[in-house]
Amino acid sequence: MEVPVPLAETLRNARSVAVLTGSGVSAESGVPTFRDAQTGLWERYDPMDLATPEAFERDPKLVWEWYEWRRKLVGEAKPNPAHEALAEIEKRIPDFTLITQNVDGLHREAGSRNVRELHGNIRRTICSKEGIVVMPENFVEGTPPRCPKCGSFLRPDVVWFGEALPAAEISAASEAARACEIFISAGTSSVVYPAASLPYEAMENGASVIEVNPDETPLTARADFVLSGNAGDAIPEMARAAFPGMGL
Ligand code: OAD
Repeated sequence: MEVPVPLAETLRNARSVAVLTGSGVSAESGVPTFRDAQTGLWERYDPMDLATPEAFERDPKLVWEWYEWRRKLVGEAKPNPAHEALAEIEKRIPDFTLITQNVDGLHREAGSRNVRELHGNIRRTICSKEGIVVMPENFVEGTPPRCPKCGSFLRPDVVWFGEALPAAEISAASEAARACEIFISAGTSSVVYPAASLPYEAMENGASVIEVNPDETPLTARADFVLSGNAGDAIPEMARAAFPGMGL
């Protein structure tokens, strides 16, 4: 993969960088992307019908078991070179924000520090009524388990369709997009809002936009640089081109 010299130089000299990642960045860790065909037991369900408050209301057991299946997948997944390269780039940029739509926690596991999880984190469980985090050792038996405090069903701490994003996360993400010199959009189909609006907010403030994706997205035509390849190859290449001494 050829990284354009101007891109490498712009990244090397950047003071502030914001990155938005989607499930494509975790694909090479074995975590299915959201719109890929569901594998195994769940191929007959449309995730859009499962990741909603209505689905949980209608069939809490089914939704809980679907997330247990996804949590198991995520539990077996390890960060890939894309996650690792992003954590290394963060160390070399004074003001770096990693905004992710992914709920797998792999960025933090790879060492990224300033991470904004727009859609929550599947490894965390909350009470469906009070929203408080409940540790597994305090689950009250059941499928789904219940809250030890109020007895309501527990649910994964992820944003479902139709739900609001965590306010602190989306406002910090928007602030980072408006302040950055470089905005990198990696592994996302750029179709789910408000996350998909972030690169345009960055553009409005004069940032250079880089897209990393093997396929075209609605952002591709507007990006200043497009690295059309897998994140696991393109992001380490970009990092090595910008920071030659980086041992990736
Ligand atoms: P999608 O499944 O919509 O898009 C995945 C993107 O990653 C596609 O554009 C693929 O071309 C690209 N891709 C696949 N493999 C890749 C690789 N190895 N390297 C780089 N890119 C690759 O997933 P998201 O864009 O993350 O929201 O979906 C956004 C949101 O839609 C998700 O967070 C989820 C879903 O509804 C909620 O659950 C609220």
